[in-house]
Amino acid sequence: MFDSGFGGLTVARAVIDLLPDENLVYFGDTDRYPYGPRSHAEVTAFAREIVDWLVATHDPKMIVVACNTASAVALAELETLVDVPVIGVLEPGLRSLLQVTITGRVGMIGTVGTVASGAYQQLSERLAPGTALTCAACPGFVEFVERGETESEQVHVLAERLLAPMQEAKIDALLLGCTHYPFLARTISDVMGRDVVLVSSADETAFEVQRALAESGSVRVGGTPPVRRFVSSGDIDSFARLGRRFLGPELDRVEAHQW
Ligand code: DGL
Repeated sequence: MFDSGFGGLTVARAVIDLLPDENLVYFGDTDRYPYGPRSHAEVTAFAREIVDWLVATHDPKMIVVACNTASAVALAELETLVDVPVIGVLEPGLRSLLQVTITGRVGMIGTVGTVASGAYQQLSERLAPGTALTCAACPGFVEFVERGETESEQVHVLAERLLAPMQEAKIDALLLGCTHYPFLARTISDVMGRDVVLVSSADETAFEVQRALAESGSVRVGGTPPVRRFVSSGDIDSFARLGRRFLGPELDRVEAHQW
């Protein structure tokens, strides 16, 4: 599983809870985050590099792209690279969003790269034509999370400005279309109000992982305790400290990887 940094830990948490016996390698590319403002070609190149590394060093039975930006721009290409299932977060997230809306007016917030890719807009047209989907980029959110600053006055002020289009669109459900954003859920909910349901792709992605493993008959149950490894291309001490706060006690040690 990989992300540009801490965001994918939201997905890792859900996968660990749902599939507690699975071995997991989590790679956070913190040296090269944020992915959001980068070109599609660059994000795709990074994602390819990570997948190649995961396959070469860990021989995984499945790869989870726990990053909306990389899923939006690179999923199709990554699927052609490896012969194991590659699971992205876009479709699971959007399905959850469509399930909870009553009015059919929904929102999605994500990185500049995700929103500009048009991937959610196209997926929504395919899954539920006619749904009124309002999309907005939230540049700056990821940086607050990576600094561990999830509830400050500054992030609140930024959220009020960036979420204004969502309030104007009178949505009843909002997809957190970046795996970092669930860490800002309290701030986002304070701004949007309790009537707007916040949807994260983490749980539905974990169910998707479970379904795909079950289909190939490769769910791991029981046996020796699972091995969970966390690897970061950036500062491993801050990854361990903040990562533990975000994910929980399973993140007991972080290994370094240098590109
Ligand atoms: N967490 C990632 C996403 O879901 C990447 C955020 C970033 O690095 O800009 O898009």
